[in-house]
Amino acid sequence: MIRACIFDLDGVIVDTAHYHFLAWKRLADELGVNFTEHDNERLKGVSRMHSLEILLSLGDISLSKKEKEAMADKKNAWFVDYVDRMAPEEIFPGAKQLIQDLRAKDLKIGLASSSKNAARVIHLLNIEHDFDAVVDGNMIRQSKPDPEIFLLAAEKLGVVPKQCLVFEDAEAGVEAALAAGMKCVGVGMEEQLRKADKVISKIGEFKLSFLRELEVV
Ligand code: BG6
Ligand code: MG
Repeated sequence: MIRACIFDLDGVIVDTAHYHFLAWKRLADELGVNFTEHDNERLKGVSRMHSLEILLSLGDISLSKKEKEAMADKKNAWFVDYVDRMAPEEIFPGAKQLIQDLRAKDLKIGLASSSKNAARVIHLLNIEHDFDAVVDGNMIRQSKPDPEIFLLAAEKLGVVPKQCLVFEDAEAGVEAALAAGMKCVGVGMEEQLRKADKVISKIGEFKLSFLRELEVV
């Protein structure tokens, strides 16, 4: 029986995944690394430093720890700048309604984002009170695909993993949810998310009737 829904943030509730891409692309251009949206799929859901490592490996670049920290800080400053100019209308259509509908069914609602900026984003979007528990990149040791973030979210929500349904746009996030023993809805392209229990292309496509389907699969 599903008792809680846990949402990823970037790319599921709001289009910040695009801002992460723009900021990484800017850094890649500066470093002379050829970096496409396809490459960016590997960065989704993983920590800032791990994302940087992937980007550097694409360009076969090795940097010192200090240089890497400076690059990660630079990317983050660009990302924060995009986010600070974001409007509440950038929440994906249907996301807020879905959260309300799930809550009306007595389901607990959690947020599990690898981003260290998650609190800032949900505050700016004025949705921080829509969640019963929030876990972000500052609270975990291992980012997705490790299940840690989802296990911590379940604990905070007072439910066991098998009672949770996760909404994820990243392959690493789907893997993390399944490794946590949770059901998972992939939000995005089938080709990246095929391991999920169900794939929808946008969050607004999720129907409450899917809950029953997901409980029996
Ligand atoms: C995830 C994004 O939510 O957060 C990744 O999918 C991003 O693309 C990661 O790298 C870390 O974000 P931040 O804001 O801590 O750099
Ligand atoms: Mg995401």
